[in-house]
Amino acid sequence: MRKKIVAGNWKCNTTLQEGVALAKEVEKLYSEKGDKNVVVVLGTPFTHITEVQKTVSNVGVAAQNCAAEAKGAFTGEVSAEMIKSTGAKYVILGHSERREYYGETSETLNKKVALTLQNGLTPIYCCGEALAIREAGTQKQYVINQLKETIFKLSEEDFKKIVIAYEPIWAIGTGKTASSAQAQEMHKDLRDSIAANYNKAIADQTSILYGGSCKASNAKELFANPDVDGGLIGGAALQAEEFLGIVNAF
Ligand code: 13P
Repeated sequence: MRKKIVAGNWKCNTTLQEGVALAKEVEKLYSEKGDKNVVVVLGTPFTHITEVQKTVSNVGVAAQNCAAEAKGAFTGEVSAEMIKSTGAKYVILGHSERREYYGETSETLNKKVALTLQNGLTPIYCCGEALAIREAGTQKQYVINQLKETIFKLSEEDFKKIVIAYEPIWAIGTGKTASSAQAQEMHKDLRDSIAANYNKAIADQTSILYGGSCKASNAKELFANPDVDGGLIGGAALQAEEFLGIVNAF
């Protein structure tokens, strides 16, 4: 059976001290009363990864990005190998904010995915359409094309290590969640496209997370869908109780 995953994406929030305190609280709540069928991941800023990694044992840690190069003269960059050396196991890649504000293209993302996999880390690969594309009704082709240009080029062996996060841009940080039916429809389309590109067994094994204004109050309805395997959570991941409510929403 494919994994259920709830991953927090803290984005550019929390000081080191606040982040460590938040991670400690999530670890405690999850250990005490969290659904152990759900894999929980905290996507922290780079500066926090090592310290957060030391404070958690039942919860995993993700970076929110990595360099497109293995090492060298790339000032300010953090490589996949460096992330691996902290003990973190996941890297969020291709978030719409990185595509939009930092010009990440499919070409750059292919390099990042390859380096992440080479270092034994799990990419949480984000895709999703802007409002204009949704209004034009072309979201399915658009999102599948994002995958065709990137992770659908991977070998079967490598693709099996990928977690996908569908995040409609119009639902991120807007309080406007995709309806349960809209999420299910896209997730099913994505699963079908994985089956067409690889095979049904691989499609059935791939975890596809939903992201975009997911909260404890709407997670139950979203996660009840057969093709929604969890969430990538922004704002609501910054409060431990709220985040645990999402973890326990299956
Ligand atoms: P919000 O949950 O704040 O809408 O953010 C979603 C997101 O972008 C997670 O990566």
